Amino acid sequence: MKGKVSKTMVIYDTVSHPLQSSGLPVVQILEIEMPAQMLSAANVHGSNDLDMNLHLTHDDTARRNFLVAFKQRVNLTMGGEIRQLFEAAVAPDLEKLAGRKLSDTDKADRKLAKAALEETHLYKAWAALTYISQGMMWEIVDGVLNHDFARLQKAFDMINARPGKLGTLTLNPNLKLPRNISKTEIHRQPGGFCFERHDTDIMAGARYNGGGLMYSAGRGRKAVAGQSGGDFVLSVLSERYPDFKPMRILELGCGTGRNTPSYKQLLPDAVVHAIDIAPGLLRWAHAFAESEGQAVHFHQMDATALDFPNESFDLVVSHIMGHETTQRGLPMWVGEAWRVLKPGGAAFHVDVPNQTGYLKLADQVMNDWQVRFNGEPFWMGWADANLKQIMRDHGVPDDALFAEYIKRGEGGLWFCHGARKPKTWSTAGRRAA
Ligand SMILES: C[S@@+](CC[C@H](N)C(=O)[O-])C[C@H]1O[C@@H](n2cnc3c(N)ncnc32)[C@H](O)[C@@H]1O
Repeated sequence: MKGKVSKTMVIYDTVSHPLQSSGLPVVQILEIEMPAQMLSAANVHGSNDLDMNLHLTHDDTARRNFLVAFKQRVNLTMGGEIRQLFEAAVAPDLEKLAGRKLSDTDKADRKLAKAALEETHLYKAWAALTYISQGMMWEIVDGVLNHDFARLQKAFDMINARPGKLGTLTLNPNLKLPRNISKTEIHRQPGGFCFERHDTDIMAGARYNGGGLMYSAGRGRKAVAGQSGGDFVLSVLSERYPDFKPMRILELGCGTGRNTPSYKQLLPDAVVHAIDIAPGLLRWAHAFAESEGQAVHFHQMDATALDFPNESFDLVVSHIMGHETTQRGLPMWVGEAWRVLKPGGAAFHVDVPNQTGYLKLADQVMNDWQVRFNGEPFWMGWADANLKQIMRDHGVPDDALFAEYIKRGEGGLWFCHGARKPKTWSTAGRRAA
């Protein structure tokens, strides 16, 4: 193949792109993050016997390629132009009027920046196109599912009917779901995470995966060839705590479980549990783990009120869950993660890098727009949260906690927070003398 070929492209070439059943080479999108389970999973974990990848027709592929290029243009090019406009013209004008420098951490200045940017044609165009592209994304996903969903549901039912499954799926129809998550169309996903028409429905999972792929690519995220979320977390942990060998692992907010089986694969002797509130996502996660040949125990549970006893896990992780939790829920699940950790255990939460202290005002204004109009209701609460303080409020000692940006592969930056519970920690909630 001619032209620029990225590492990610090599993956596409060798495994044949799962979203492309037409057999045509993928030439348009060279830098696109592929969540592991959107790849032909046989190449990622080695044992997949269930094809849970969406099958795209030639025309679906064309629509997908257009959408990703469109989103990249809006997110990256126009987003960059808004930043430039703000720094070069809007901020200097505001500063002249105010007679002082603007501060990136002052919410009143965020308001000033928002009011001024909203008057510009560029910002208005960015907002309109962002809105349109997100709607198009879900139309494309549903267009694929219109012809491919029956096959996916059949594959799921087949796995579900198998005797001798490796892991388990425990749904709790009596669980009181947090309404501002279960009744909100987060990411504007049709029906939201908790969409469910019958008791084996995997539609929410199918949509989440289809949309997630295009969304990440549209933000210009690159895959780290062959590296799962589990690889990332475990490699950072082993650098920090060389003596750390988790035997009981819990993932919070596992969604469709795109990272979950990798923990079991990397640590075959460990017992892996994962929870989420959304049944359609959990069904998908369970089938995916089974098809990967990995024993994982999935539970429908609220991370803010875990059913697990104190000190029952060596490692509690989450991947991009924090920014999807409410301001009230955030400190609650951080506390629950700490409660269920054994002494010597570690909590490690990976999330989107949009903390206020790190973002310029123009980006804060664009994020605030996403909260109001684009299905990201908790982004700003998350961005403004002081994770270190939340952990301290739960009694986590300062020398045990961290909240920082960590680079993942080429260009990928994540906000990670967590703590290691001192080995001498007593159940009374303090270090033993
Ligand atoms: C952006 S998704 C991330 C899913 C998955 N970890 C991934 O990396 O694709 C956030 C997930 O958090 C879950 N979630 C939000 N609040 C929760 C809560 N209180 N308890 C359990 N899960 C929750 C949502 O249902 C959703 O699956």
